[in-house]
Amino acid sequence: MARKKIIAGNWKMNMTPSEAVELINTLKPLVVNDEVDVVFCVPAIDIIPAMEAAKGTNIHIGAENMYFEEKGAYTGEISPAMLVDAGVKYVIIGHSERREYFAETDETVNKKVLKAFEHGITPIVCCGETLTQREQGVTIDFVRQQIKIAFLNVTAEQAAAAVIAYEPIWAIGTGKVATTEQAEEVCKAIRECVGEIYDDATAAAVRIQYGGSVSASNAAELFAQADIDGGLVGGASLKPDFGKIVNYGK
Ligand code: PGA
Repeated sequence: MARKKIIAGNWKMNMTPSEAVELINTLKPLVVNDEVDVVFCVPAIDIIPAMEAAKGTNIHIGAENMYFEEKGAYTGEISPAMLVDAGVKYVIIGHSERREYFAETDETVNKKVLKAFEHGITPIVCCGETLTQREQGVTIDFVRQQIKIAFLNVTAEQAAAAVIAYEPIWAIGTGKVATTEQAEEVCKAIRECVGEIYDDATAAAVRIQYGGSVSASNAAELFAQADIDGGLVGGASLKPDFGKIVNYGK
């Protein structure tokens, strides 16, 4: 069974609600492609207007974060039920910026992944090494550890439906894209790791994205790799170029 590509934009802390509506109106004719899943992960306050603006299109609206508790005294957090009620189907979990600036750990990532599945939301689970780790030759060991902890107590059926985003931190927002070989090597290792935790069928089903300076000019080559099932796109997802990335093969 061929895996359907999934191309997701990560807007980060950009776009006010009215700007979000404007951007979706600009992008919606450009991102038409039924062969891939197209997701716009937007700031929480933009979710509802974005959902409205994307109605009737192929665009899925996703979230950039979610808390792992059901509800209660967690000032400032967004619950899974809030996302579900707003129609959200995808949530980015454990982006490196959340790990770096908001103290997220492999353990909190695991709690969030479990909670997302409990509510029927597909997590886009982020992993990836720093430049120092790459230079020290520990990239694959490090990423394998991130994946093993993120998927603790996740069932095979859930894991098969998950999305994993491999994002080398040194390639994020730097314009310094990983080479196709570097990206494929780690995505392949992640798939093998999923195969070790579960089985071959789960490894064959899980979708693995590459992220880090994906652009209209490198998307086609990256997405042609055997183990790369699409991309998580930051900067370029805020521009008309995102349409070219979604239609990379054409
Ligand atoms: P970038 O960001 O495409 O701007 O490098 C990717 C990401 O952080 O998801």
